[in-house]
Amino acid sequence: MKLLIDDANLEKIGKMMEYYPCDGVTTNPSILAKEGKEPYAQLKAIRSLIGNDMELHVQVVSLTAEEMVIEAEKITEILGKNTYIKVPSVPEGIKAMKMLKEKGFNITATAIYTAQQAYLAAKAGADYVAPYINRIDNLGADGVETAKTIQNILENNDLPTEILAASFKNSQQVLSLCEYGVGAATAAPDIIEGLLKNPTVTAAVDAFVADFEKAFGEGKTMLN
Ligand code: G3P
Repeated sequence: MKLLIDDANLEKIGKMMEYYPCDGVTTNPSILAKEGKEPYAQLKAIRSLIGNDMELHVQVVSLTAEEMVIEAEKITEILGKNTYIKVPSVPEGIKAMKMLKEKGFNITATAIYTAQQAYLAAKAGADYVAPYINRIDNLGADGVETAKTIQNILENNDLPTEILAASFKNSQQVLSLCEYGVGAATAAPDIIEGLLKNPTVTAAVDAFVADFEKAFGEGKTMLN
């Protein structure tokens, strides 16, 4: 399963890229608004930080299919070929996906709350469908189960579309989908760090160092 960073903050992205095996960055209009910078300036800085080979997902904001396509052309022209155009899975968005597919764009169908949306977006040519796990939970449904249903629909219908699961509230949700074999997940930095955060592990590592230093001297490592 690919793992992407759902954030537009350069410092956080830089840290995630340095420490963890991440495959790209996803943004949305709210995430970009949070940074308070001119959107293309921020996105160009992210592109230059992660390099041209990584996936960068950028959402259109227009409300008609025709304008979404024009936005997609500008986004791709400025940010390069490994850029995925996030399109909301509403009627105008599904229409836009069909148009974008014909033009050869990379498409991420976003704002997916139901398997029905995912089915239509996949049929329209989306490369990824992005179910919002936590937001689905908040509606009284089950986000992880919805993503699993979508995975079954894609597999049973031989659709080449992959899941890019988004909107996580904890790292166990990420792992459940990894176990199920979904294509990708995008998560905020604290959720990615949560995959590794474990006081028992930290205590075990601290004990190894303490035992070693007690026997061989403070500050002693295998280097000295
Ligand atoms: O882009 C989708 C994802 O970022 C939504 O996450 O945490 O706002 O529900 P969240």
